[in-house]
Amino acid sequence: MTTPSFAASSEFANPQLEPLFTAEQIQTRIGELGQQITNDYAGRNPLLVGVLKGACIFASDLMRAIDLPIGLEFMAISSYGMSMRTSGEVRIVKDLDVGVEGRDILVVEDIVDTGLTLSYLLATLHQRGASSVRLAALLDKYERRERDVQIDYLGFQIPDAFVVGYGLDFAERYRNLPYIAVLKST
Ligand code: IMP
Ligand code: MG
Repeated sequence: MTTPSFAASSEFANPQLEPLFTAEQIQTRIGELGQQITNDYAGRNPLLVGVLKGACIFASDLMRAIDLPIGLEFMAISSYGMSMRTSGEVRIVKDLDVGVEGRDILVVEDIVDTGLTLSYLLATLHQRGASSVRLAALLDKYERRERDVQIDYLGFQIPDAFVVGYGLDFAERYRNLPYIAVLKST
């Protein structure tokens, strides 16, 4: 599979970044979520399942804000590719290396948009016999929801805009921005 080039896209001919959440705002919120998760899972040892690639940075920061013995695993789900619209098709590209039976699973996702990815993933983990499955999502683009998805630990709600940074990409670019911005074309 070839990596799509940002320059090849016509959707953003002249890209502009409009800051939405600063690095500091993100860290403050993650500290609060970590505290909440630490309290809620007291006495247990949940397994964090990060959804690649977008959630890699959120998962790294969130796990350091949780004061419990936790495990970390990753899964990869097919995503948008070059398009800003979801295809509606969900596919596991990289599966877990461990079983989830009897485990308390906390899925860590960058953003819930239509909810197609998460509703599929959460149902799959339930089917595999996890004793509980909860979701931590940094961003919630609630206006675009097509499937009901319960977000147990939410960073921020955002309007219907395409955002990048802090792990989120457009055609593999901008994941390394320390803040979150709306990507606009002029
Ligand atoms: P959903 O299945 O429509 O909820 O899509 C979820 C996935 O689409 C996320 O995990 C992201 O990888 C991607 N996505 C959705 N909205 C955005 C966005 O605004 N910026 C970057 N990626 C996005
Ligand atoms: Mg994602």
